[in-house]
Amino acid sequence: MAHRVCPWWLGPLLASPIRRLFQNPAKLLAPYIQEGMTVLEPGPGMGFFTLEMARRVGASGRVVAVDIQAKMLAGLKRRAAKAGLLDRVVLRLAQADSMGLADLAGQVDFAVAIAMVHEIPAPDRFFAETAATLKPGARLLLVEPAGHVDAVQFQAELDLAAQAGLSVTARPAAGRSHAALLQKG
Ligand SMILES: C[S@@+](CC[C@H](N)C(=O)[O-])C[C@H]1O[C@@H](n2cnc3c(N)ncnc32)[C@H](O)[C@@H]1O
Repeated sequence: MAHRVCPWWLGPLLASPIRRLFQNPAKLLAPYIQEGMTVLEPGPGMGFFTLEMARRVGASGRVVAVDIQAKMLAGLKRRAAKAGLLDRVVLRLAQADSMGLADLAGQVDFAVAIAMVHEIPAPDRFFAETAATLKPGARLLLVEPAGHVDAVQFQAELDLAAQAGLSVTARPAAGRSHAALLQKG
């Protein structure tokens, strides 16, 4: 599996409205995100999904967006400010070997990792760190692009997630992608 990180200059393309033609953030996320929630989004890029989630959590919620690239976070910050949603988006810079989420232990209502786990050299650590942030019974929506990750590789990710206590409860459709809804036991 390739672990090359998506270059920051692809950020605007990933956040382009044209992507909605095959992957609609509102449709994908509406069933899971309610007002007041704390949502964790590792690898938000420039925020194609983040802004939709920030709208849905409302003024009393927050989306914690954790990326390894400062330039992705800068693009996300610009877009969130333009949309008037910056007060609901917490931007955090991750380190290569850890997302540094210990302070969020047991606080997260829902997590979303889209098109990012295949870029991580140690996905076992990623799943352990993410699972630790979730409240008991809270869920992680994992989505990987079918063009980069085949079915065998996606299953290997699900196996690692299971080792971190996250079990598959549904396989939602996510437009040219593999997707699974994982619940913390
Ligand atoms: C292909 S982009 C996807 C962005 C966004 N989720 C989307 O679907 O538009 C992958 C993102 O994950 C980030 N990323 C890669 N490795 C990471 C890590 N170890 N921790 C946090 N973010 C990471 C990259 O910097 C990039 O912004």
